[in-house]
Amino acid sequence: MPRFLTPTRLLLSALYAVPACTLRVPSKVSQIPTAVQNGTSVAQFTSTTSGLDAPKVQPINGSAFDWWYFDVVSTDPSNLASVVVVFFTSGQTAFPFLPPADTIVQASLEVSFPNGTILPRIVVPGEEGALITTKGDSASGDWLGTGFSFTGHGSTNLEYEVHINAPDVGVKGKLTFSAIAPAHLPCGPVAADQTLVVGPGIGWANAVPDALSVVDLEINGTRLAFTGAGYHDKNWSDEPFTTHVASWYWGHGRFGPYSLVWFDFLDRTGVESVSAYLAKDGQIVAASCAPGSIRVRPTGVDAAFPPVLSSPDPTGYEISLPLADGNLSVQINVLAPAFGDSIPQYARFVGNLTAEIVGSEGNTSFDGMALFEQFKLTE
Ligand SMILES: *[C@@H]1O[C@H](CO)[C@@H](O)[C@H](O)[C@H]1NC(C)=O
Ligand SMILES: *[C@@H]1O[C@H](CO)[C@@H](O)[C@H](O)[C@H]1NC(C)=O
Ligand SMILES: *[C@@H]1O[C@H](CO)[C@@H](O)[C@H](O)[C@H]1NC(C)=O
Ligand SMILES: *[C@@H]1O[C@H](CO)[C@@H](O)[C@H](O)[C@H]1NC(C)=O
Ligand SMILES: *[C@@H]1O[C@H](CO)[C@@H](O)[C@H](O)[C@H]1NC(C)=O
Ligand SMILES: *[C@@H]1O[C@H](CO)[C@@H](O)[C@H](O)[C@H]1NC(C)=O
Ligand SMILES: *[C@@H]1O[C@H](CO)[C@@H](O)[C@H](O)[C@H]1NC(C)=O
Ligand SMILES: *[C@@H]1O[C@H](CO)[C@@H](O)[C@H](O)[C@H]1NC(C)=O
Repeated sequence: MPRFLTPTRLLLSALYAVPACTLRVPSKVSQIPTAVQNGTSVAQFTSTTSGLDAPKVQPINGSAFDWWYFDVVSTDPSNLASVVVVFFTSGQTAFPFLPPADTIVQASLEVSFPNGTILPRIVVPGEEGALITTKGDSASGDWLGTGFSFTGHGSTNLEYEVHINAPDVGVKGKLTFSAIAPAHLPCGPVAADQTLVVGPGIGWANAVPDALSVVDLEINGTRLAFTGAGYHDKNWSDEPFTTHVASWYWGHGRFGPYSLVWFDFLDRTGVESVSAYLAKDGQIVAASCAPGSIRVRPTGVDAAFPPVLSSPDPTGYEISLPLADGNLSVQINVLAPAFGDSIPQYARFVGNLTAEIVGSEGNTSFDGMALFEQFKLTE
């Protein structure tokens, strides 16, 4: 018996692994030990018929990372609330923005309150390992002993809940996600035999591009409750995060009937990789990684592209996305930072946006909200 599983948990894991005959969709349980593993990691970079949200790197050696990311941003521009929860299986040698720890099983929480106050990031180490149950394209994960877990179910429009019961860090409550836009891969809709590579060395699967989400947390006696636009993805690699990344812009937003996810990344050789996703009323309108399928650039007086470590944060971004019959042009305005630790390499923001769809039949414009980030790792 692996030392990180107590008998009760082993029994629970056996119960989770309900045989295929009693359920339509069989489930698979992965047990992730706390220790960095020696030897070679095998990373999956091509999709199969299911398992969109399954572990993608096994085992996790000192170069590898695999994590499940969840966020919710308020859709009310007068409310600056956001929550980000990340379930890591990664050590600091693979992802340097984690604190030093004796375990690769770590859960993090970052929040901003309605008035824009941000708390320092909380990272809770898991000393008992993680159990991840994959069923169809969804997954559930228990970061044993941390009080952080998530459950997923459904098929096209997935549903998730993130539960937190972590008295040691004063946090209790849950986030719910009910997807309103279909999952996608870096280069298109979910399908077998597609690439999972979003840029050199980085795997990405976006199970929930946009969701109706409800947040209800109690943080050291203060309640944080709001509804908003939720999002869930996972990324992974068998190489350290900083191997290829020079900078990237990522984010998601909602305006009118539209759900937008963007990704625009420069590698260390200066090559740009992109991934564009737009859904309208729950149907995919654009999903592509072709060069030029989306363009994200910083705006503001001091905006610098490509961004380097010494570049000041931009005051906004401009996104253009060519459509079959027209163009989408989005102006994003930073309202507030949403990451509590001040480091030059990383920033996350809550912002409002104006989106204009320019078409042969006329133009339509919408207001909306977004949560977005940038990495810049070189000078
Ligand atoms: C990895 O190898 C080192 C050195 O041989 C050893 O001390 C350590 O226990 C090994 N780790 C695992 C998880 O097997
Ligand atoms: C982890 O595995 C990868 C192979 O996928 C290998 O290239 C790398 O050197 C390994 N890292 C460590 C620290 O052993
Ligand atoms: C902002 O909201 C937080 C959480 O409710 C509260 O603790 C803090 O005092 C507020 N800050 C200001 C400046 O009102
Ligand atoms: C709650 O308060 C404790 C004690 O001050 C602190 O260590 C912890 O980080 C706080 N939790 C959060 C989520 O800020
Ligand atoms: C990668 O991970 C970051 C941080 O968890 C997350 O915000 C982002 O959505 C992910 N994106 C891609 C394209 O890998
Ligand atoms: C969309 O933008 C492209 C490139 O800027 C331009 O050639 C095209 O005419 C635009 N389409 C519409 C309908 O405005
Ligand atoms: C964001 O909101 C502010 C304040 O309401 C407004 O002045 C600005 O035009 C908005 N910006 C965008 C890009 O929507
Ligand atoms: C639509 O927007 C484009 C670009 O901003 C502009 O050139 C065009 O005149 C607008 N069309 C109408 C009908 O307003």
